[in-house]
Amino acid sequence: MIELAFSILAADFAHLADEIATAERGGGTIVHVDVMDGHFVPNITFGPPVVKAIRPVTKLPLDCHLMIEDPDAFIPDFAKAGADMISVQIEACRHLNRTLQHITDNGMLAGVVLNPATPIEMLVEVLPMVHHVLVMSVNPGFGGQKFLPRSVARIAHLARLRTEMGLNYRIEVDGGVADDTVASVVQAGADMLVAGSAIFEPGKTEENAKRFLEIARAADPASLIA
Ligand code: DX5
Ligand code: ZN
Repeated sequence: MIELAFSILAADFAHLADEIATAERGGGTIVHVDVMDGHFVPNITFGPPVVKAIRPVTKLPLDCHLMIEDPDAFIPDFAKAGADMISVQIEACRHLNRTLQHITDNGMLAGVVLNPATPIEMLVEVLPMVHHVLVMSVNPGFGGQKFLPRSVARIAHLARLRTEMGLNYRIEVDGGVADDTVASVVQAGADMLVAGSAIFEPGKTEENAKRFLEIARAADPASLIA
């Protein structure tokens, strides 16, 4: 099932609750929360207190993308704050297997994220443990960057591995996913689509989300079978 995980990094932070409600009206089904620490990436955003603040204003799952050093130290804080999914960057995890187990033990769905320069093969041993794999289609740190076209082949590779290994993890894609790039990632096998700047726009968020999802669903190979 194709889902829109809207990234609140592109929202108006002074009105987060309204922004989330508007994106949900447009068909968004996951709230994507970009957590940055100024070390793993050259930017600082929000942490568990913001997750805790938005938890009561929406029933949608909160998908926390941790772009931080030492994610293990913060996993219990995100769980307490109300996160439903945690995605950790493979480049930040020395003991990835343990970190993923830690996320699951804290009652959340575990995902792993790969930067554009990280080979997909690095993940093979942990694929049976994850709920989703997040393919970065930009170098993380900022919204509004240009989609890296190699990402399409990387998504297709993960989709192939999923079949070969008999697994059912979801494939999430993040960065520069917009009206002009979304069809290619969906055709390659992505089904959790992160989008920030393509969705949030004063007065237009709801229609942007609807149009984006229409394009994405029209490209879904599953929809062609029916
Ligand atoms: C980038 C973040 C993304 C970002 C996407 O480091 O992980 O989630 O918000 O923004 P857009 O959709 O504007 O590329
Ligand atoms: Zn993200």
